Amino acid sequence: MQIITDIKKIRTIIAQAKRRGQSIGFVPTMGALHTGHASLIQKSRRENAVTVLSVFVNPKQFGAREDFAAYPREKNKDCLFAKKQKVDIIFYPSVNKIYPRSFLTSIKVDRITKTLCGRFRPGHFDGVALVVTKLLNIVTPDVLYLGQKDAQQCAVLKQLVRDLDIPVKINICPTVRENDGLAMSSRNQYLTPKQRREAPVLYRALRDARQKIQNGERRTARVIKHIAALIRHNSSGRIQYIECVNADTLQPLQGLRGEVLIALAVWFGKARLIDNIIVKI
Ligand code: PAF
Repeated sequence: MQIITDIKKIRTIIAQAKRRGQSIGFVPTMGALHTGHASLIQKSRRENAVTVLSVFVNPKQFGAREDFAAYPREKNKDCLFAKKQKVDIIFYPSVNKIYPRSFLTSIKVDRITKTLCGRFRPGHFDGVALVVTKLLNIVTPDVLYLGQKDAQQCAVLKQLVRDLDIPVKINICPTVRENDGLAMSSRNQYLTPKQRREAPVLYRALRDARQKIQNGERRTARVIKHIAALIRHNSSGRIQYIECVNADTLQPLQGLRGEVLIALAVWFGKARLIDNIIVKI
């Protein structure tokens, strides 16, 4: 595995691979790698000759009062993890390399960034769009691998790639969960043992809601109320939002129909956890 910090250098290595006719799979991350990332890496390895993993804690996607400073940075551990997963190239740029002092550009993706998490994290998805555009320009992959846990991020990046005609295929991989159903996330590290025991209620509540819909419930408010009650009765989690939206447009639904994304964000102490489920009606 090659660890590359320099933009020019990674461009050269990738150009060489492309000349050999090798396809490039790309897994962008902010590090603190876990089994969820491993599943993206393995998918990329199965489908491409070369797998590139980036690790970059992107300052532009954190709000002023968010956890940028506290976000886990574990370079040695991440490199070892990536090596074990047989990543070919790990791209580990510094903040200055990605955003030099002279940097002036921003990217704004409209509407789809305003619902769900976007309501509570203004500017977050523009920061994601900016860094991913830059990373895609550097790595020029054939396929970009993303996790379904970040459903809104997936929708925003699909829109971005479509709007800007970026020649990359997006492959969205299923959410990887702990045995008790908790979606894997680097932020699970923030949970106390008690919060960790409580947090699986999120997925239990989402599955319960899916069952309710499959049993015929079509009233959005009833489904949301049911999820909220389960979370409140079974945990100390503070609900930020629970929403049922169209899975493509992410716009709220009055009555449940088509492909419904049920998404939520809940605070457990310092950890803001998100999760979602798609129900096809
Ligand atoms: O999902 C993440 O880890 C980040 O949002 C991403 C896509 C690497 C951009 O910084």
